[in-house]
Amino acid sequence: MSSAMNSAMNTAVPDAITRALPLLTEPPRSPDVRHGYLDLLGPETPAPPGLVQALWQSTVGTAIYDPAQALLRRVFTALRPPAEQLRLPRAGTALDVGSGPGAVTAALGRQAGPDGLALGVDVSESMLRRAVRDHAAPNVGFLRADARRLPFRDATVDVVTCLAVLQLVPEPSVVLGELARVLVPGGRLGILVPSVDGIGGKLARFIPGFAGVDLLDARDVTATLREHGVVTLDVRTAGPTFRMVAEKR
Ligand SMILES: C[S@@+](CC[C@H](N)C(=O)[O-])C[C@H]1O[C@@H](n2cnc3c(N)ncnc32)[C@H](O)[C@@H]1O
Repeated sequence: MSSAMNSAMNTAVPDAITRALPLLTEPPRSPDVRHGYLDLLGPETPAPPGLVQALWQSTVGTAIYDPAQALLRRVFTALRPPAEQLRLPRAGTALDVGSGPGAVTAALGRQAGPDGLALGVDVSESMLRRAVRDHAAPNVGFLRADARRLPFRDATVDVVTCLAVLQLVPEPSVVLGELARVLVPGGRLGILVPSVDGIGGKLARFIPGFAGVDLLDARDVTATLREHGVVTLDVRTAGPTFRMVAEKR
C-alpha cells in the first residue's frame, strides 16, 4: 500500500464529513480526508479552463481572493449571499458549490445551527485547504469535487448556493442541472454571477475571451433552471453582476 493511501486511511474523518457520507451517490470505502476535506477527485485535477480559474487554483490567488471577497462584501451588499431569501431551515442541509475559501459555507453553517450541515464543494486544493483551516466545524465540511458532477444523491439538500462560479465553468448549463438535481422540492437556490447586462457586458465587448470568464444572461439561466423544475423568484442586477433566488417545484 502506498504511504499516501496509508496516511489517508489513518486520518480521522471530520464529523461534518461523516455526516455528509450518507448523502453521497457513491460514498468512498476509504475516505481520503488527509487535508481535512473529503477528496473525491484524487490526482484528477480538471485543467483550469482559463487564467482566472488558474489563479483560483493557486496559493497566491487564494491568498488574494479571500480578503478581497471579505472587503467587497462588507462594502457591496449585492455581493453577499441572499441569506434571508434562501430560508435555510434550522437543522437543514446547505450546499455551497464553488465554495472557495469557505466564508459563505461557514455563514450557511451558522444559519443551519449545530444540528444542521453546511457543505462546501470546490475543485481548488488551495481554496479547500484555506476553507478547512478557517471554517471547518462539526457542522461545516468541505469536499473536493467538480460542480459538473456533484457527488450527492438526488434531492438531498434544502439550500444550494453557487456564488461567482458559473462564469468560470465552460458548461454552466450542466452545473445548473446539477444544482437543481440535488435540491429537495421546495428547496431554494442562490446564484451570483457577472452579467451580460450592465458594466460587465460593456467590458466584455472590448476584452475578448475575458481570461476564461463567460458572462451570463439571467434570461438564459432562468430558462435552463425551468427545464429542471426550478422557478426563478427574484433577480437583481447590481453593477457587473446579477443575483438570483430560485425554488425547486
Ligand atoms: C470566485 S471564487 C468564488 C468563491 C465563493 N463562492 C465566494 O463567493 O466567495 C470561484 C470558485 O469556484 C471554484 N470552481 C471553479 N470551477 C469549478 C468547478 N468546475 N467545480 C467546483 N468548483 C469550481 C473555484 O476553484 C473558486 O474557488
